[in-house]
Amino acid sequence: MKRLLSGIRASGSLHIGNYFGALKQFVDLQNEHDAFYMIANLHSLTTVKNGEKLRAMTISIAKDYLAVGLDPKKSVIFKQSDISAHAELAWIFETLTTMPYLMRAHAFKDSEAKNKEINVGVFNYPMLMAADILLYDALVVPVGKDQQQHVEMTRDMAQKFNKVYGQVFKLPQALILEDVAVVPGIDGNKMGKSEGNTIPLFGSDEEIKEQVSKIVTDSKGVNDKKDPEKDIIFALHKLFSQNELEDMRARYLNGLIGYKESKDILSENIIKYISPMREKRESISDEKALQVLEDGGKRAKEIAEKKLMIVREKTGLI
Ligand code: ADP
Ligand code: TRP
Repeated sequence: MKRLLSGIRASGSLHIGNYFGALKQFVDLQNEHDAFYMIANLHSLTTVKNGEKLRAMTISIAKDYLAVGLDPKKSVIFKQSDISAHAELAWIFETLTTMPYLMRAHAFKDSEAKNKEINVGVFNYPMLMAADILLYDALVVPVGKDQQQHVEMTRDMAQKFNKVYGQVFKLPQALILEDVAVVPGIDGNKMGKSEGNTIPLFGSDEEIKEQVSKIVTDSKGVNDKKDPEKDIIFALHKLFSQNELEDMRARYLNGLIGYKESKDILSENIIKYISPMREKRESISDEKALQVLEDGGKRAKEIAEKKLMIVREKTGLI
């Protein structure tokens, strides 16, 4: 079985974009891969500056992983900070990378465009991510489209290191589900934790209804013909309303449905879809989640440290 690794930053509640862009694939893929799923809490530090909050969010993501169906018997579920090899290898990569190269990263350019005060962690972010992946010789990296460039940078890094020090790292490949590559938020932009435009994956019925009611639409009336491909509600129906999608499409095209009704159907279908996961999540204790991370951390550490020893030897550190 091919080795697979992916991760999610602990930085807020998961939303349906995270689910369709990442978690759903994680669950499917664990059956056919030697899978490693990480909580990228070192990456979180670039934005989260509150220990209590980060600790709580880490446990929360572990519960989310288990609730959506990741199975610790099939996958190694661990947290990045339990394995110091990640930070050490990232440093070594930083010494092989130039500033102009990192300046091309989308995430950095976005922060710069927003005039944010950018910490060096944000700038070096792709190097830590390269370390996450390469330490485990992962060949497959399932991520949303926004992370594709980071995986390409990881390949570049592996090639660079191999060229300088000899063959050590394998070249990973991003795996992107094209259909749902970008889930739109309620404002039509990419759904994102920090954008205030999310539908929470484990929200209450009320929270879901409220967010759905806020989805932006044009001003067409109930009986106007509507282009389903231009409507955010319809884009979400594609994810949650598979069984009635063609019927909905026809009603859109023929002016037989208003946005209010379409939203009501959507809320109902989202709630139906997520309630089994929500119930499962409620049954998982903090202790259980912590135990899973501890066990996973031990397994991940063994592999990571072996690889790091080779790197230390090649680079002359030992
Ligand atoms: P966010 O953008 O909300 O901060 P992260 O950057 O932590 O989310 O992303 C976690 C995973 O979820 C990544 O694999 C990312 O590509 C995926 N993802 C996030 N938002 C979306 C979206 N709107 N559509 C598809 N995938 C997404
Ligand atoms: N950068 C990823 C994100 O923001 C999270 C991440 C960190 C990751 N390390 C990784 C994803 C390694 C895949 C593999 O979503």
